[in-house]
Amino acid sequence: MAEAFKQEIEKRRTFAIISHPDAGKTTLTEKLLLYGGAINTAGSVKGKANSKYAVSDWMGIEKERGISVTSSVLQFHYSDFCINILDTPGHQDFSEDTYRTLMAADSAVMVIDASKGVEAQTIKLFKVCVMRHIPIFTFINKMDLEARDSFELLDEIENVLGIRTCPINWPIGAGKRFKGVYDRNTKKVSTFQAVSVGGAKSAEETEYHVDDPALKELVGDELFDQLHEEIELLDGASDAFDQELVDKGELSPVFFGSALTTFGVETFLEHFLRMTQSPLARTSDIGMIDPVEEPFSGFIFKIQANMNKAHHDRIAFMRIASGKFDASKDVYHVQSGRKLKLSQPQQIMAQERKVIEEAYAGDVIGVFDPGIFSIGDTLCTPGKKFTYEGIPTFAPEHFCRVVQLDSMKRKQFNKGVTQLAQEGAIQIFQDYSLGLSEIIVGVVGVLQFDVLKYRLENEYGCDIRLEPLPYNYIRWVKDPSTDLTSLKRISDCKKVKDMKDNPLLLFANEWSIRLLLEHNEGLELEEFKKN
Ligand code: G4P
Repeated sequence: MAEAFKQEIEKRRTFAIISHPDAGKTTLTEKLLLYGGAINTAGSVKGKANSKYAVSDWMGIEKERGISVTSSVLQFHYSDFCINILDTPGHQDFSEDTYRTLMAADSAVMVIDASKGVEAQTIKLFKVCVMRHIPIFTFINKMDLEARDSFELLDEIENVLGIRTCPINWPIGAGKRFKGVYDRNTKKVSTFQAVSVGGAKSAEETEYHVDDPALKELVGDELFDQLHEEIELLDGASDAFDQELVDKGELSPVFFGSALTTFGVETFLEHFLRMTQSPLARTSDIGMIDPVEEPFSGFIFKIQANMNKAHHDRIAFMRIASGKFDASKDVYHVQSGRKLKLSQPQQIMAQERKVIEEAYAGDVIGVFDPGIFSIGDTLCTPGKKFTYEGIPTFAPEHFCRVVQLDSMKRKQFNKGVTQLAQEGAIQIFQDYSLGLSEIIVGVVGVLQFDVLKYRLENEYGCDIRLEPLPYNYIRWVKDPSTDLTSLKRISDCKKVKDMKDNPLLLFANEWSIRLLLEHNEGLELEEFKKN
């Protein structure tokens, strides 16, 4: 019994896929699910037509959000593993939730478009993974299209992201001349031949030893010689594989492939499963919590308002951090000190939601929030009492001044913004000197402004106007006792406070941040606020 319980936890792998929009995250996810037999056809993960709604179309948002809820976690089985892929919403859906989801993952897969290299959104998400020191795997995608030089791509990852790389396989050519990948460990080449099966793009693979004359015949003298030269260069100059460095998030194993044609996906999955670990121990106020030794515990990393207006229901997403969750038993909500049963816990299997009876460390489940949960809260077994390290507050990038149109509704307005901020849909700030008479709202993705306006109007009966502010960067002042008015060269940034009175600064660009730091020796600014 105890052994079976341990096995359940040890076979779990929980990871997030991060990328810039269009690099191929959805395609890769879909192909991974196909291997697990969780879906039958490509195109099931996310209806493309649904992902391109008009920004201000709230009905569209509702529908899309419905989809985001159901596809927030995809669980499937592959060989002896139970795999949880956490969806990190991109495109217009990009929000603070995207960052928060990374707090629930044990590792991350970074998908990079081989013709574009490291792009803006990848950098942002990567920084969060680095903060957590989780293993980061790189899948360089779209090798069947024209690509940048592979060495140049590795250099870019190392220089821009600051992580060392270790190619596990290596491409032969790219685009029309893409011939396959060489596995550095087995010294075998899987050749790529594009085919079309029932209109869907696919690839045929054949395996050769790297020295096989038949391979030379197939790929041609030039690519064959180039491959041998590159192998020599790689073996001589690139970082050797080192599992310990991978575990610490300091070395990223790199794979080349083409998700659309499913080429390189299975190899990637198999290596990935071997190189990642089962659910990791997590930091709490009483030390590290072991996922197997400790009975049930978990933390809330995301709260999503139910779109059913009549109910005001909210679903809280909980990462189970230790033990086994049993739906028939009470849990203890540490922050409120209340014992409760979590009603209708749900697991999201590919496209279906189903009510579950049990789940294990590593799993993510959705539970109804009776209105008491906040992001970062801990749930554990009654009789235990500890709190997991909080979910940081991430820097918003867009800011608006909120003007309330009907001054008679001050109370509803305050309630609305406070609740939405508590739910984590927005962040609110007040002017440093004017206080609450000037409310500023900050968001990571601009879609959140539409959500704010819609929800304040529909749920709290408050009409508002949002006036955009010309700032895109926010920094917390590390020492909260700093008097912002005493700082030098402060004129082009805006001084604000959060609702806990922490001082912050809003900047138009990175250049003004540097200028301020240069003129104020000893001043320390932070991009994340640890809670
Ligand atoms: P995302 O989730 O990261 O935003 O990317 P997504 O998978 O939606 O892929 C973006 C586009 O790139 C899609 O084309 C997809 O088919 C294509 N793509 C993904 N991987 C590969 C690959 O390995 N090779 C090639 N050639 N294309 C790839 P689309 O035209 O925007 O959408 P669709 O109509 O094909 O679905």
